[in-house]
Amino acid sequence: MKVAILGFGTVGSSVARILCDLKPAGIELTQVLNRGVARKRVDWTPPGTHWTEDFEQVLRSDADVIVELVGGLEPAGTWVRRALEAGKSAVTGNKKLIAEHGVELDRLARANGAHLLYGAAVAGGIPVIPGLRQGLAGDRITRIEGILNGTCNYILSRMEAGAAFSEVLCDAQSLGYAEANPSEDVDGYDARAKLVILSRIALRAGLDVKSVFCRSITQVDAVDLVYARDLGCTIRQIAKAELHPDGVSAMVGPMLVPLRSPLAWSRGTENMVLVSGQYGGDVVFSGHGAGGHPTAVAVVSDLISLAHGSRPVDLPSRATPVSGEFELRHYIRFIVKDAPGIVAEIAGALASEKINIDALFQRPGYDKADLPFVVTVEPCAASSLRRALDRIGSAAWLAQPPLDMPMLGE
Ligand SMILES: NC(=O)c1ccc[n+]([C@@H]2O[C@H](COP(=O)([O-])OP(=O)(O)OC[C@H]3O[C@@H](n4cnc5c(N)ncnc54)[C@H](OP(=O)(O)O)[C@@H]3O)[C@@H](O)[C@H]2O)c1
Repeated sequence: MKVAILGFGTVGSSVARILCDLKPAGIELTQVLNRGVARKRVDWTPPGTHWTEDFEQVLRSDADVIVELVGGLEPAGTWVRRALEAGKSAVTGNKKLIAEHGVELDRLARANGAHLLYGAAVAGGIPVIPGLRQGLAGDRITRIEGILNGTCNYILSRMEAGAAFSEVLCDAQSLGYAEANPSEDVDGYDARAKLVILSRIALRAGLDVKSVFCRSITQVDAVDLVYARDLGCTIRQIAKAELHPDGVSAMVGPMLVPLRSPLAWSRGTENMVLVSGQYGGDVVFSGHGAGGHPTAVAVVSDLISLAHGSRPVDLPSRATPVSGEFELRHYIRFIVKDAPGIVAEIAGALASEKINIDALFQRPGYDKADLPFVVTVEPCAASSLRRALDRIGSAAWLAQPPLDMPMLGE
């Protein structure tokens, strides 16, 4: 099986390295494409490797499979489409492309007798996609909860140890974990693309990416991690999707996770995915969700399965309505200019939406002009809570808008 790698960056060069080291039977690296290819050329690929900047050369060549590791929607999308139309199979790690165009590309592959594999598109080196497609295809998965973005996990697990958001973000950028513009990660868009891919495979639900509600982790303050600890929890960016008879509830954002939940055990850039099946119960996948070598392992594994003639399991999905509604306990953190009657006003707003207060926490020692305290509420719909909080949104005693976060169960 002759392989052309498109994009010789972090993952592309790691794929080439592993192919050269492991020499998997029946796989031959024959081409590498990159812009400005002269500065990319290395001397350790097989002697006959053809280096090019021209995709038309790859398309005309005898390569059986293209490995798309350029990233982004274009030109990657056009290259994958044209390769599939030409009957060449494609392997990619491009979550954006697969989240937005995966259904169409899967169809195109089938129509042309080719295969499209994207095991690296979610959670890098953790075999979540092959695990769902093969190992769990015999169950009816009803829920996915995942830590799908290593940058956010690095930031929140360092904040858990007492560091401030801005300081940790700078460290993440200098270590190469976070981009100069970290919005894709911290605002949840990266995890959202991965959640959409997992929902398609696990829940068989085709979700419109932009309809999945995202909340940024930038609103999480050091004080939230202190209060979370008092509640026996920590905070993680969670991507969550749940199947209901009339659709799917899905969202990405910071959530409280009990310390006893496996989701709380992930540290640094680790990823973790917990899926719940009707018949098989809970299954946890964890490991390195990113990085050149871990991600390349997923790509090479896809190539090996193609070389062995395995056909990817086809799990048809259908377009499914999505809402951000979860019936969960919630944590609400207020920062107020202290005054009499504040708690009564909050209780009134919550009661107006029939939301029961579970507990109220106030640690001593904070400035009365900037006083943080926390209210936890019994399970309620996110929309009811939003309406209740909107009622007090303009109160003169609020020093900052309140922050509410769902609290996951064990
Ligand atoms: N890195 C990870 O940990 C990770 C994990 C999971 C999935 N992925 C996915 O894997 C893919 C590759 O990621 P990466 O981290 O390897 O990215 P990267 O280091 O930026 O590599 C991309 C490569 O593609 C080349 N390239 C970009 N646009 C091009 C164009 N128009 N024509 C020709 N070459 C072009 C770049 O060349 P230049 O050198 O000129 O920029 C670079 O060598 C992405 O889809 C990413 O989402 C990455």
